Amino acid sequence: MSNEHEKPWSGRFTEPTDAFVEAFGASVGFDKRMYRHDIAGSIAHARMLAHVGVLTADECSAIVEGLQDIQLDIERGEFAWTIALEDVHMNIEARLTDRIGDVGKKLHTARSRNDQVATGMRLYLRDEIDTIAAELKRLQEGVLEVAEREAETIMPGFTHLQIAQPVTFGHHMLAWFEMLMRDHERLAACRRRVNVMPLGAAALAGTSYPVDREFTARELGFEGIAENSLDAVSDRDFVIEFVAAAATLMMHLSRFSEELVLWSSAQFDFVDLGDSFCTGSSIMPQKKNPDVPELVRGKAARVQGHLVALLTLMKGQPLAYNKDNQEDKEPLFDTVDTVRGSLRVYADMLRQMQVKRENLYAAALRGYATATDLADYLVRKGVAFRDAHSIVGQAVRFGIDNGKDLSEMSIDELRGFSDIIDDDVFAVLTLEGSVAARDHLGGTAPVQVKAAVEQARHRLLQ
Ligand code: ARG
Repeated sequence: MSNEHEKPWSGRFTEPTDAFVEAFGASVGFDKRMYRHDIAGSIAHARMLAHVGVLTADECSAIVEGLQDIQLDIERGEFAWTIALEDVHMNIEARLTDRIGDVGKKLHTARSRNDQVATGMRLYLRDEIDTIAAELKRLQEGVLEVAEREAETIMPGFTHLQIAQPVTFGHHMLAWFEMLMRDHERLAACRRRVNVMPLGAAALAGTSYPVDREFTARELGFEGIAENSLDAVSDRDFVIEFVAAAATLMMHLSRFSEELVLWSSAQFDFVDLGDSFCTGSSIMPQKKNPDVPELVRGKAARVQGHLVALLTLMKGQPLAYNKDNQEDKEPLFDTVDTVRGSLRVYADMLRQMQVKRENLYAAALRGYATATDLADYLVRKGVAFRDAHSIVGQAVRFGIDNGKDLSEMSIDELRGFSDIIDDDVFAVLTLEGSVAARDHLGGTAPVQVKAAVEQARHRLLQ
């Protein structure tokens, strides 16, 4: 076995790896996407080894330059990956020795692929969290723009998907903003726990070389150093935590999507999503399908699946590292791709969305949305709430039988249900009066919505 792809561990073996096992066990096909982070980890490790005197300065520069050249090769598409070398780590290390000679073999001193892969994953995920957080922020800004523009737009608010009370469209959008804000916070909290350095743990027990873990951590921008070497190489809870945050974010986008699908249907007709975010039908010429929200709703399912896969991957593993952990990558990578794509398309789509104000207003008028306001009006005049509830129930019944909204009834008709009712009732029966009355922090009144948008913009800057 002295071919150019000799395995770094081949020393104790007499038989070559079965060809299918080699293909079955290789992860390079997918983990090569971590090449930058693997190289960054190796460069920092080499510098630390020189710093503590395990490598000479010349050896260190040869290794660092060799790794930098390899990175350029990879980025130019000139690196030949091979499954014979299993994963991104061994591919790069073997190429280093090809390039710079035997000194390349010293890079792996005081290190194992176990702490190397855990480090690479953390560096990779830290970068992706930053990219995702920026994309999420762009979406949140888009949501705030719509909220501000539609602060006075009245729409029906729903419970049980039945018209409940009028709300403003801006207020409804701010509900989405809050959910996305919590997603943002979850990512930030997760990032703190991701940003901890495993290097130095080596295979599982630590290393007998005089490593300076603080030095390596500073080089790589890690905020902390893993306190226990067994834990450092074996747990993937940081991946699980990220995917849980991602699954929650996707769940929110999925609910948002469900509303956009409903709202863009002929039955609701509340919004127009813009031609560039919809598709037509090959058979029905009139169709304009809300593909983007439907797809995002569908993609939430795969991230949820990845979360379950990762939890299941971890739950039976004894300490410390097991090869099972190689299976953490594809669920993580697909989660990253799915979340990034979904956020991007959502932010773009919201910019195109037209809000159909007249239709929203007409829908709010149809569902006796101000019935609670009439009950509250009676209570203010001294009627007990339960009695008020029943009086208004009768008025609604009359409205249904006669095809009239509460605000369309004459004063005499209304007084038929309670003679406490006066002309001033019409101020509360209008949709405008109803939303304006909910004038407190977190309420739907247009003034509150505008103030909340301002506040939200500050929160996004923090
Ligand atoms: N490709 C492996 C992974 O993704 C790297 C670590 C391998 N370690 C080992 N002892 N076989 O987990």
